[in-house]
Amino acid sequence: MSSRQEAERLDQDDPLASFRAEFVIPDDDLVYLDGNSLGRTPKATVARLKQVVENEWASDLIGSWDHWLDMPRVVGNRMGAIIGSLPGEVAVHDSTTLNLYQGVHIALALRPDRKVLAVAADEFPTDRYVVEGIAHDLGLTVRPLKPGIDLHDVAVVVRSVINYRTAEIYDVKAFTSSATEAGALVLWDLSHTAGAIEFDVHALGVELAVGCTYKFLNGGPGAPAWTYVSENLHSQIQQPIQGWFAQKDQFDMEMPFAPHDDIRRVLLGTPHILSLIAADEGIALSERVGMKQIAAKGQALTAFAMQVVDHFGLTTSTPRDPQRRGCHIAISHPRAKELVADLATHHKVLADVRPPDIVRLGLSPLTTRFTDVWDGLQRLSHLISG
Ligand SMILES: Cc1ncc(COP(=O)(O)O)c(C=O)c1O
Repeated sequence: MSSRQEAERLDQDDPLASFRAEFVIPDDDLVYLDGNSLGRTPKATVARLKQVVENEWASDLIGSWDHWLDMPRVVGNRMGAIIGSLPGEVAVHDSTTLNLYQGVHIALALRPDRKVLAVAADEFPTDRYVVEGIAHDLGLTVRPLKPGIDLHDVAVVVRSVINYRTAEIYDVKAFTSSATEAGALVLWDLSHTAGAIEFDVHALGVELAVGCTYKFLNGGPGAPAWTYVSENLHSQIQQPIQGWFAQKDQFDMEMPFAPHDDIRRVLLGTPHILSLIAADEGIALSERVGMKQIAAKGQALTAFAMQVVDHFGLTTSTPRDPQRRGCHIAISHPRAKELVADLATHHKVLADVRPPDIVRLGLSPLTTRFTDVWDGLQRLSHLISG
């Protein structure tokens, strides 16, 4: 039997409980179950931004570019530690959408004879839109990604590791290996994965991936995204937006475009330094705690949530197997939209709605308490039962 007492006991025994104090939390009674849309604010970020604005920007002015210039790579190396990549394989830059666009093009340039892209009908909208847009521009075909799909003529598959609605984790290793056997490349979207579960790009055979930093990595609103390209592909990176931050001798100015031979080939123009600083602090916190611990807490939170879901007789499409689910849970209800609005307006619970019928509850390992899980689901169940 689940109970609030059990949630309180789990909070007391939680080895990561103290990390909540590292975040700015103006209202401790707010049940925030939306850290998978926007993670909370690390205190270290506030301090670092103040320092960067006052000292580096205000005082040192343009002199700060001596170390700002390489930040996409420096923060990229930190990011790489979260997903198991080698130093130099990740750049933190631009947005997930833009990086998907570049990533599909990078993959297409490696499979010039193939004219088919694949993406699932239930994939996150921006991933589908990017694939459909590129297909339209280049006269390619989009094949719906479904079990048993033939990949023998497919150039690129775009796929999320964790489903943004149900939290189901796909079998990355098996899928990548069958795609590779068929000659297709897979561009993985790790937006709901990075900072939520343990992931090792090399152990899983992943060659291309993108993701954001504003969800489980607590990088801040609009924080830059990242691109991972495995080192063996670096010299072959060709992407459609040629910008001067990819250029080998960037400040020689008059040279024809001749990009670096490394991950900087994905860079475009001047990086968003303040956002990059905020992302760096969020990523650094996850790196300091360690993904093994973070993933274990995430599994404990979702396991408790599933117990509470059953306790209140709610319906979920989130997998029961802890190895197959990320750090959010989906409750199905035809009045999902209304319920989420009511929770926010009258019950101090912030959750998400994912149409048509999902109430999505994000459980952030560094900030969500077991009592938040209990309180959020209890209030939801009271609303449902009227
Ligand atoms: C799977 C996935 N991809 C991409 C995005 C968003 O892309 P962008 O960061 O460019 O807004 C989201 C946003 O929630 C997402 O869930």
